[in-house]
Amino acid sequence: MSTILITGASSGIGAAIARILAPRHRLILVARRRDRLEAIARELGATAVVADLATAEGLVAASATVDGPLHALVNNAGIFALAGAEAIDRAHLDALWRINVDAPMLLTAALLPRLVGGGAVVNISSAVVDNAFARCAAYTASKCALEGWSRVLREELRPRAIRVGVVAPGATDTEIWPADFAGADRSRMVRAADVAAAVQLMIEAPAASSFDRITVTPGSGSV
Ligand SMILES: NC(=O)c1ccc[n+]([C@@H]2O[C@H](COP(=O)([O-])OP(=O)(O)OC[C@H]3O[C@@H](n4cnc5c(N)ncnc54)[C@H](OP(=O)(O)O)[C@@H]3O)[C@@H](O)[C@H]2O)c1
Repeated sequence: MSTILITGASSGIGAAIARILAPRHRLILVARRRDRLEAIARELGATAVVADLATAEGLVAASATVDGPLHALVNNAGIFALAGAEAIDRAHLDALWRINVDAPMLLTAALLPRLVGGGAVVNISSAVVDNAFARCAAYTASKCALEGWSRVLREELRPRAIRVGVVAPGATDTEIWPADFAGADRSRMVRAADVAAAVQLMIEAPAASSFDRITVTPGSGSV
């Protein structure tokens, strides 16, 4: 069985990725909410690592759990926050950047020696890279940064036969949307399980090909 580490597996897309991969892989699941994470890890027979990946200690705790070959790393943990251009401040940028950009880059750097040929790094981006939404500038910039880094990483790892995939979901029905968010019609959102299927394809596809970027958008309604 191959080992896969998934960040942000305590809810939403990360939990769905864990559920779809659990039957065929040994999973290490990382997030901050102990009760939620441990419940999913128990259900799936996975290892839970309670860690805040926005901190140096959390990154060390997560990477230290991998003590053998790693087949795939799924950088899914992320936050969403809105601010109009005039409201963007240091705290807003730092909060988004630490988990949406710095954590995937630093965790990947730490785990690169463990990643095996034929394996994969999958980064969860967003359809905001392709479509502009008001008050979404810093979040959009963070996901554009994630994708720019992913393109460079793909070429750096190609000689080692490690594939780098980006999955960019449109509006997906998870807890990232505040319950009272105006205009969030959950019945027309992507299902987390369908985003997970794209991640599974990137990880389990034959090693001869790399699925570089998959967008997953709602079948009806708006992106
Ligand atoms: N839902 C959408 O419409 C949508 C669309 C495009 C892209 N995405 C992306 O999909 C990814 C997953 O989001 P989701 O929709 O599934 O939302 P979610 O249910 O809120 O999941 C976010 C996950 O990230 C974890 N996380 C957040 N901050 C963390 C930190 N500092 N350290 C460790 N883990 C942290 C959360 O766990 P804890 O709180 O337990 O730490 C949770 O497991 C994100 O990168 C998001 O940007 C979502």
